[in-house]
Amino acid sequence: ALVVRQRMKNSGRWASVRAVVKELEEKCGTPDARLKQIADALNVEMHAGLASEGGSKIKMLISYVDNLPTGDEEGTFYALDLGGTNFRVLRVELGGKERGVVHQEFAEASIPPALMSGSSDALFDYIAEKLAAFVADEERIYEQPAGKERELGFTFSFPVMQNSINSGTLIRWTKGFSIDDAVGQDVVVEITKAMKRKGVDMRVAALVNDTIGTLAGGRHSDPDVSVAVILGTGSNAAYVERAQAIPKWHGPLPKSGEMAINMEWGNFRSSHLPLTEYDNAMDADSLNPGEQIFEKLISGMYLGEILRRVLLRLAEEACFFGDEIPAKLKSPFILRTPEMSAMHHDTSPDLKVVDDKLKSVLEISHTSVKKRRVVVELINIISSRGARLAAAGILGVLKKLGKDVSKEKTIIAMDGGLYEHYMEYRKCLESTVFDLLGDTTGTSVVFEHYNDGSGIGAALIAASHSLYLDQKF
Ligand code: GLC
Repeated sequence: ALVVRQRMKNSGRWASVRAVVKELEEKCGTPDARLKQIADALNVEMHAGLASEGGSKIKMLISYVDNLPTGDEEGTFYALDLGGTNFRVLRVELGGKERGVVHQEFAEASIPPALMSGSSDALFDYIAEKLAAFVADEERIYEQPAGKERELGFTFSFPVMQNSINSGTLIRWTKGFSIDDAVGQDVVVEITKAMKRKGVDMRVAALVNDTIGTLAGGRHSDPDVSVAVILGTGSNAAYVERAQAIPKWHGPLPKSGEMAINMEWGNFRSSHLPLTEYDNAMDADSLNPGEQIFEKLISGMYLGEILRRVLLRLAEEACFFGDEIPAKLKSPFILRTPEMSAMHHDTSPDLKVVDDKLKSVLEISHTSVKKRRVVVELINIISSRGARLAAAGILGVLKKLGKDVSKEKTIIAMDGGLYEHYMEYRKCLESTVFDLLGDTTGTSVVFEHYNDGSGIGAALIAASHSLYLDQKF
């Protein structure tokens, strides 16, 4: 009788597992028709955001980059790239049309979590210190005179209201940063003060978002690049807009007739977005509730956390991992997207990688292969929803560009760790864009990965706005 009761209990649990999976699958559904509605809704928001400041939840920020790199840029420039869990200092040697990017080197450091919610001075001092170390190394290696004035492109990947190419105030933090006293401050003034404190002699020639940097880096290698998309810790897109199509721009009409726009699409929201109870709970618990809803569905910071929340529910409601709820599973953000990606790509017949990750990250052992399959199924649901929604975003931007994509070549410059490393996500994203465009052979849309495009792009923009040029003209 005991055995029979145990079996009944097990089959009851299994039925609840299936019910949770099925419900998730339904709620996360992204049929093509819905993706098209989302693309259209984004397109409407783009218009509204360009029409007036505050006209839409997506800010459509003016970058002051009205001249993308041509390839003529020459000289040695620097870039500082701050935007996610890591930050980088780069040195780029540009050799003009003939030689392109002659040489580049970089140093990388992770941002200590405490600095992400400390004070503005603490964050910028830390960055300036790393910059000082980089410059000291350079002076030693290249035997350069100390005190040489260097020009810096600052890639600062948060929403910034720019007042010029090298000034702008932080609108708010995203991606887990929350340093209150920095909001509303000019980030160029802040980094410049910190550099002074640390004895670094550099001038910020350009302040750019990572999407704008990637757009510039991409354009430098190919004139057909007109859109850039970042899929990393956060997500965002930039593109080249006709200046005349920006009613809120009251400045002089740029010679090129164009202006690069940082969309800040992460804050897009629409009733068509397939939100689940897990998303709503994650949002409510986040540092920025109600904000960056699109980003929370598609970007690297959040995918693993959504999975954790679903697994926790399975553990609580269906004893998925045994009678006790694994303690680690209760810890927010413990399951990161790279781990989720590794499990998704597990091709071993008994899902060895899934087993390993469950053990090493969540301290859950002895899972059956059947259960590991459920984990992969959940991963697939969450990841495809993200990738397909990102694809809808890209479709919305392509529509706004208004090009005939069947005839005119459009290259989309891509960067970010999620795009770079999560192959299933990337494949799904790209094939969905082609499907939505209605033809897989006839379109001229190309995805191109520009590794570190944002850093090089920032250096390129710094080059075209450098002191040297100021003096020359
Ligand atoms: C977040 C930031 C945005 C950035 C993106 C990708 O959405 O707000 O500025 O471009 O992440 O890093």
